[in-house]
Amino acid sequence: MKKITKAVFPVGGMGTRFLPATKSIPKELLPIIDKPLIQYAVEEAIEAGIETLIFITSASKHAISDHFDPMPDLRAKFLRQNKQDLVNKLDTLPIEVKRVFVPQGQPLGLGHAVLQAEPMVEEDEMFAVILADDFIQADKNPLRRLIEVAQTNGRATISVESVEPDRISSYGVIAPDEWQGDFVGVNDIVEKPDAASAPSRFGVIGRYVLPQSVFSILAQTQMDHNQEIQLTDALKELIKVNGLQAVKLTGERFDCGSQEGFVLANLHVAMQDEKLNLQIRSYLSNC
Ligand code: UTP
Repeated sequence: MKKITKAVFPVGGMGTRFLPATKSIPKELLPIIDKPLIQYAVEEAIEAGIETLIFITSASKHAISDHFDPMPDLRAKFLRQNKQDLVNKLDTLPIEVKRVFVPQGQPLGLGHAVLQAEPMVEEDEMFAVILADDFIQADKNPLRRLIEVAQTNGRATISVESVEPDRISSYGVIAPDEWQGDFVGVNDIVEKPDAASAPSRFGVIGRYVLPQSVFSILAQTQMDHNQEIQLTDALKELIKVNGLQAVKLTGERFDCGSQEGFVLANLHVAMQDEKLNLQIRSYLSNC
């Protein structure tokens, strides 16, 4: 089996929950303190062995490409000033990592975004998909673990997280087989079930390793009532064709597509910094 070296970053969504900020700033460039969400996602991918980054963008998202461009003049200035810490912050992408930008054309859903990567993926090649707005802080690299599991048998592998009953209706929820440590075979995915009818407490989150065959399934997937092609619908079909397995996330995840998740993610990271921690505690004690 070919090594998994390509990751798709769908960044073509409208980010309506963050308007008006997302009029000019893609949601994926919103920062957790000082580093944009997309930068965290790219670092996770590179650490997991990814060599080619495929960004599926909308027309207004040149800022993402700009973020990964080198800034030679400023870099040289910081070097002359002996400010290596600032040089490190400017170096957002190792030189050897390839990046490709593919326009989505219209925001017709996550499934449609992933489908745009088809020309970049070879037959029998598996690839990763990372949703940068699912911000994860974990000791073990979540994508690396997905890749390890996917490579044992070549099956599509997704990441799931235990979700509280009052939130389960916002997720695609797996019907699992027998757990084997942190991974499990998936028999079905139920989209946004109510707590009483959910087949498990495990919701699908934004890390996937998929086979090339998913593209032909996506190409035949019908649009939903919102005129979007849903990746979940293709995954359900994939269960029948190739099988599907899920890995339980170990670590903390914040849904930074929501305002609550974004604020909590910032707080979570800020509390890890000694100075910010003290300032936040002092501020909250006076609230
Ligand atoms: P979301 O469901 O969060 O949608 O997309 P959104 O448009 O970004 O945000 P809201 O709901 O309007 O606030 C999940 C992921 O799929 C990407 C998004 O960029 C995000 O990473 N996506 C979604 C696309 O790339 N294209 C689409 O057409 C839709």
